[in-house]
Amino acid sequence: MLYHLIFLLGTILGAKEIFAFTSCYMHGRIAQYYYCNLTEVPLVPNDTIIFWLSFNKIRQVNASSFPLLVQLHTLEIGTQFVFPVIIGKAAFRNLPNLQTLDLGDNKILHLDPDAFVGLSHLQTLRLYYNQLEESILEKDYLRDLLSLEYLDLSGNQIKSLRPHRLFYRLKYLQIIDLKNNFISTLCEGDLDSFQGKPFLLFILNSNQLYQRITMDWAKCGNPLKNIVPGTLDLGGNGWTVDIMQHFCTAVNGTPIEFLKFTHHIMGRGFGFNNLRDPDKDTFAGLARSGLRLLDISHGFIFSLNPCVFQSLGDLELLNLHHNKINQIQKQAFIGLGNLKFLNLSHNLLGELYNDPFEGLHSVLQIDLQQNHIGQIAGNPFRNLRGLQLVDLRDNAIKTLPSFPAMNILRLSDNRLISLGNQNISATYLDLERNRLTNLGDLYFLLQAPDVQFIFLRQNRLSLCDKSINIIENNQLVYLDLGENMLKLVWDRSLCLDVFWALSKLQVLHLNNNYLTTLPQDIFHGLTSLNRLNLASNQLSHLPPGVFPESLKTLNMSENQLLSPAPEVFMTLSVLDITHNRFFCDCTLTTLTMWLNQTNVTLAGSENDTYCLLPPVFTKVPLSSVALHGCNEDELQKPLQFSLFIFTSVTLIMFLTAIVIFNHFRGTCFVWYKTIAGALMKDHKHAISTSACKYDAYLCYSNRDFEWVQNSLLKHLDSQYSEKNRFTLCFEERDFLPGEDHIINIRDAIWNSRKTICIVTRQFLKDGWCVEAFNFAQSRYFSDLKDVLIMVVVGSLSQYQLMKYKPIRVFVQRSQYMQWPEDHQDVDWFLHNISHQILKEKKVNKKFNVLEMQTISTIS
Ligand SMILES: *[C@@H]1O[C@H](CO)[C@@H](O)[C@H](O)[C@H]1NC(C)=O
Ligand SMILES: *[C@@H]1O[C@H](CO)[C@@H](O)[C@H](O)[C@H]1NC(C)=O
Ligand SMILES: *[C@@H]1O[C@H](CO)[C@@H](O)[C@H](O)[C@H]1NC(C)=O
Ligand SMILES: *[C@@H]1O[C@H](CO)[C@@H](O)[C@H](O)[C@H]1NC(C)=O
Ligand SMILES: *[C@@H]1O[C@H](CO)[C@@H](O)[C@H](O)[C@H]1NC(C)=O
Ligand SMILES: *[C@@H]1O[C@H](CO)[C@@H](O)[C@H](O)[C@H]1NC(C)=O
Ligand SMILES: *[C@@H]1O[C@H](CO)[C@@H](O)[C@H](O)[C@H]1NC(C)=O
Ligand SMILES: *[C@@H]1O[C@H](CO)[C@@H](O)[C@H](O)[C@H]1NC(C)=O
Ligand SMILES: *[C@@H]1O[C@H](CO)[C@@H](O)[C@H](O)[C@H]1NC(C)=O
Repeated sequence: MLYHLIFLLGTILGAKEIFAFTSCYMHGRIAQYYYCNLTEVPLVPNDTIIFWLSFNKIRQVNASSFPLLVQLHTLEIGTQFVFPVIIGKAAFRNLPNLQTLDLGDNKILHLDPDAFVGLSHLQTLRLYYNQLEESILEKDYLRDLLSLEYLDLSGNQIKSLRPHRLFYRLKYLQIIDLKNNFISTLCEGDLDSFQGKPFLLFILNSNQLYQRITMDWAKCGNPLKNIVPGTLDLGGNGWTVDIMQHFCTAVNGTPIEFLKFTHHIMGRGFGFNNLRDPDKDTFAGLARSGLRLLDISHGFIFSLNPCVFQSLGDLELLNLHHNKINQIQKQAFIGLGNLKFLNLSHNLLGELYNDPFEGLHSVLQIDLQQNHIGQIAGNPFRNLRGLQLVDLRDNAIKTLPSFPAMNILRLSDNRLISLGNQNISATYLDLERNRLTNLGDLYFLLQAPDVQFIFLRQNRLSLCDKSINIIENNQLVYLDLGENMLKLVWDRSLCLDVFWALSKLQVLHLNNNYLTTLPQDIFHGLTSLNRLNLASNQLSHLPPGVFPESLKTLNMSENQLLSPAPEVFMTLSVLDITHNRFFCDCTLTTLTMWLNQTNVTLAGSENDTYCLLPPVFTKVPLSSVALHGCNEDELQKPLQFSLFIFTSVTLIMFLTAIVIFNHFRGTCFVWYKTIAGALMKDHKHAISTSACKYDAYLCYSNRDFEWVQNSLLKHLDSQYSEKNRFTLCFEERDFLPGEDHIINIRDAIWNSRKTICIVTRQFLKDGWCVEAFNFAQSRYFSDLKDVLIMVVVGSLSQYQLMKYKPIRVFVQRSQYMQWPEDHQDVDWFLHNISHQILKEKKVNKKFNVLEMQTISTIS
């Protein structure tokens, strides 16, 4: 336990890299001796370059501790578990090229006045937490360290700051860290030996500076006279507005780049009145300092008073986060004409009014996240033309103000119900976790031509009321619509065209949207789509060709896929199908075989892609389900069956042939002639009528689509399989969306050589279907073409059919086809229907020659 604690302390305070708990060995030219209970410096090869000796029990380091290690550049002897640690005279004389020396956190360190002699190449010296007193700076311990750049004396007992004259010579000194000491005062003259030294960073944080004594500021003078402290960190000193004002007045004219006053106690806080908020005089003394960055975060400022920053005309960055700011008074930021970055996050702002950002002509970024902003009066951002980023995350905004066009606009975690009619034009637009319900808002957002990223995750998108179409040349590349309720939108056939114009979109998230089916053509137009996330929906079936060909990464995890066909995954390189509900029977073999040999990277562990049914296979990984038996079974059964059929059929045919021939010799002959004639005609017409766009229009009730697709489309339509030769037309694919339905039907009939009506119970109930039937039939009378093929599926009685006049008329003049009840007849049937499609039936009744000619010209 103690060990852990010490270890933790070591990591926090020492910030040392600890690769292993106990590692006492040479690692190439690195000697790694952490936690080795060493009491003396061990012997290491003379070419060692790094020597880590922290977390040991070495009490003493003296001139004989190290052999000559010419190449050593880094030595750590921090955090010894014994104290005091004594560094003797010339302890490091054998390490002439040492650059980094870490003696930090030794609790009590006794330094010989000559401890550091000879270290003329030392650049970094860490002496933090060693109970060192001001003598370390006031005496000449560091006289040889002519290369010193970084001196860390934080956490010691230094009570005053009057550095030795030797500091004049440390030309490269850039960073002095005196954090957590006890320096209570600093006046003109104290830092004379730092004069002319352009510091990068001077840290006097947490010293209770000017706190514990009554200051006579007039006598004190300018503590930074002739000093150039690039970044001056004075935070954590408990300064009130008064001390701040005195200090700023005192350093009047000293050039300072960056002032840090984080963790101050300025401001009256929330609900108090005894302390003041800074006002227009507080920072006035800095007017001539050329200050560019000011950090007064982590304090108690409640109200930003008028003109409080007016003298800081050069300021570019102002950090005010983590205060208690509730009020931005009128003209609070006046004078900050050069400010680029304003951080007001983590405050108590409840509303924005009074034109709060007045005067910020150059501002690029405003961070207002984590406030309580509910009301925004007027349009405070509208005139900030250079704005690139506004962060309003985690507020309580219900109504948007208007924004100028910008790069990044973050509005997540607010209470937006609708976007109103505000034009939002941002390259990166974050609207996650609001309460938006209308997918139509997306159409609206995509009116802005530059938007590239839109995040709408975790809203309530469940309806779609669009007033406008998405512009064609939009640049959207990333769209997150996860965790909404898009099922409710698409189930009502609303906004099915939402992605059609997004030709640049690369990433689309649709996870957790309760989707049970993917609407046909929903991804139509996503020609650049690379990554699609459909995880955590309820999809059980993926229609072939549903995904764009550019798709590379697909997440189908946590859906209800039963038995997907591998064809839909062909374009992918990464696929996640973990946690689905695979039904492991023979139909799944195509998938499992594909999975076994595919190059597609499968996400997740093998064990996460498992069967759910049948019960014997529940949770068994697909990779280990044995479905070998399937192939042989499938082959054997039909073989036995067909042998049986063959013999029986031969026998019966032989018998019936005799009977038929005897009784219907004449009819047989007529049949023969008809068939032969038809075959030849087919041949002719296949060429002559190729002018039609489609071979046939399939007319059926929408509810029968699944059946039609499996039974007919897959075997006839050329887009379903290369073996098929017909170009079919059907509503789900070929109808123009938005066009009047009846016009679609008429066009389909006119553009197709034949119209095949799949008459089922559903068909008869569907008014559109009967209408289409009627229309196709009317061509028989109006332009003398018999284009109608009627296929009855399922058991429909003659009576049921005859109830409908168009069907009655058809049945009276022509034969309809009946879908075979026996599966073995399906091929024959399909062959037959193919014939019918090709066959040109002319109405050859009692028409005269002239009429016949008209018919041929039409066709
Ligand atoms: C150091 O000493 C402690 C306790 O005496 C012991 O548990 C640990 O194993 C020792 N470490 C090494 C590297 O010898
Ligand atoms: C290091 O020690 C080896 C023998 O152990 C010696 O040959 C070599 O000269 C030494 N190198 C230096 C730089 O002292
Ligand atoms: C140097 O330190 C070692 C222990 O690390 C000690 O044994 C030795 O006596 C010391 N030498 C001198 C000269 O103090
Ligand atoms: C504003 O300050 C917060 C808190 O430190 C920080 O997380 C955020 O990144 C800052 N904003 C900007 C725009 O830098
Ligand atoms: C939004 O932009 C359109 C055209 O760009 C403009 O007609 C409309 O007035 C703007 N709406 C608002 C609220 O600025
Ligand atoms: C797919 O989505 C699931 C659920 O959100 C997630 O756990 C998984 O990491 C995703 N897979 C990939 C490959 O990103
Ligand atoms: C995967 O394929 C290899 C040969 O490519 C075969 O040996 C192995 O049995 C197959 N595994 C499964 C589960 O089908
Ligand atoms: C998998 O990759 C190898 C080598 O790149 C290639 O030969 C093989 O055809 C690929 N297999 C499939 C199914 O694409
Ligand atoms: C899968 O499950 C089996 C049995 O539970 C286990 O032995 C194996 O390590 C698991 N594999 C992975 C990759 O987790």
